Amino acid sequence: MREISDIDRMRSWRDGLWADCSVGLVPTMGHFHRGHLSLIRRARVENDQLAVSIFVNPIQFDQQEDYRKYPRDHQRDRQLAQREGVNALFTPDEAELYPSGYSSYVEVEGLTDCLCGAARPGHFRGVTTVVSKLFNILRPHRAYFGKKDYQQYRVIQRMTRDLNFDTQVVGCPTVREENGLAMSSRNQHLTPGQREAALALYRALQRGRRMIEQGRRDPAAIERAMRQLIDEQPQVQVDYLQVRDAVDLSHPGEVAGEALLAGAVYVSSTRLIDNVVVKI
Ligand code: PAJ
Repeated sequence: MREISDIDRMRSWRDGLWADCSVGLVPTMGHFHRGHLSLIRRARVENDQLAVSIFVNPIQFDQQEDYRKYPRDHQRDRQLAQREGVNALFTPDEAELYPSGYSSYVEVEGLTDCLCGAARPGHFRGVTTVVSKLFNILRPHRAYFGKKDYQQYRVIQRMTRDLNFDTQVVGCPTVREENGLAMSSRNQHLTPGQREAALALYRALQRGRRMIEQGRRDPAAIERAMRQLIDEQPQVQVDYLQVRDAVDLSHPGEVAGEALLAGAVYVSSTRLIDNVVVKI
């Protein structure tokens, strides 16, 4: 495995690959868990060469504190990447991606106004900017994103289409703990009691799913029932809990087609997100 932290060397690695070599990319912020590894494993089998990036992207954090606290464990990540057969590990630092005088950003309109976009101003602009830079540096045939961050996946898919990146965006299923809690780097900020409490979000989404499966179609009633379940758990505060169209993220008058049930909650100061997609 090559570990590369500068852009020129990363480009030379890419340029040195044979003509019809397929290249997969898994962008990450490191501190790997089974969610990251599921993307890496899928990308490994679907491509000749696999690049993984690790970069805790400062411009997508709306709170300095969250950026500072973000867990980092480079040694362990490097070992895991090596073991998974990653060919190139791209680990730029902040000055490499955002040198002084940096002033260009990529923004997807519309899709980023709701859900996490409304709750975290500037977040998706930071994500789409860094992902476009990675796409330009690595020119991957396929790039892998988890549906755990469902809005991020849809926003990147739209950006890729709108800006004509020659990259296929592959969405991968959410990996969960045995009890259902979605894997997240932020889970490690939680005490065992808080982890248990955090499950309320997953349970609320499952309640919403069952309601739709039983024929309920009124988004407001489903949102109310989901929220009720979380309100019973005093350690968990709802940021948002919504029913949306799973493709364009619009607010449906009535549930139809593919519905996204998406939620964000705070457990103490830790923000967690999760979602389920229900096909009708
Ligand atoms: P990060 O949170 O490190 O996640 C990297 C990738 O792993 C994302 O595509 C995310 O959706 C996926 N992932 C995280 N938890 C998952 C889970 N439980 N199951 C399946 N996939 C999961 O998302 C980011 O980094 C950044 O925003 C990034 C795209 C790298 C841009 O900076």
